[in-house]
Amino acid sequence: MEIEPSILYFGTPVVLLSTENQDGSFNLAPISSAWALGQTVVIGLGREGQTAYNLGSRPDLVINLPAPAQWPAVERLAPLTGRNPVPSGKPEGCRFEPDKFAAAGLTGEPSRLVRPPRVAGCPIQLEALAERVRPDVSGEFVIVEAVVRKVHADSRIVVPGTDHIDPAAWSPLIYNFRHYFGLGPELGRSYRTQTPRNVEGSAPADTGRTHGNEATGATSRPCRVPH
Ligand SMILES: Cc1cc2nc3c(=O)[nH]c(=O)nc-3n(C[C@H](O)[C@H](O)[C@H](O)COP(=O)(O)O)c2cc1C
Repeated sequence: MEIEPSILYFGTPVVLLSTENQDGSFNLAPISSAWALGQTVVIGLGREGQTAYNLGSRPDLVINLPAPAQWPAVERLAPLTGRNPVPSGKPEGCRFEPDKFAAAGLTGEPSRLVRPPRVAGCPIQLEALAERVRPDVSGEFVIVEAVVRKVHADSRIVVPGTDHIDPAAWSPLIYNFRHYFGLGPELGRSYRTQTPRNVEGSAPADTGRTHGNEATGATSRPCRVPH
């Protein structure tokens, strides 16, 4: 079929961007147009939003990755903007909120290298600097290239004794055509993976929710971070 969908959000991880407002307070916004290229994360932002405004002047940010169970907090942020007055292009029902951490029921914790706080409870937090901010081809968005300077990970999703995120222990929160999903069972592994297999001590003894894949022998389980 040939169709004309109004959106093309085909399923990308949700990140929560913390940035610094002009008055020194901090903004927090859910974003799904984000992907990594080496140590750079490329981010697409609405031109009129507070986040784009902040990164145009103050390059510090934290790219926080929530776990699937945190989707209600993400959705509480959805109708909020840190921009006052609310830009005319924002959807109906969007309102100004100066303290989005409190509004979402989230807590900040200090970053090591940048001014905006990390979101406590997000299993992966990337401190970064927006090194390039430029308009996209439509003029409606800006494209941000953020270079990651410090990676924080919950110890429960790190392969013990290594710098590897355990893909069986971590699941991103996926924004799939405006609906929230976690990951399903693992299907297989890339020939390029460097993550050790059958990691000692990584079995989900507490949940027993291991999913097997008969074809590949692969196993996967939901993120064990309890939120
Ligand atoms: C799950 C989710 C994903 C979103 N993805 C994006 C995105 O990739 N880019 C964007 O500009 N806005 C995105 N939004 C909308 C912004 O979060 C929204 O416009 C918000 O008001 C921005 O806040 P700010 O104006 O304080 O920056 C998303 C919203 C949700 C709930």
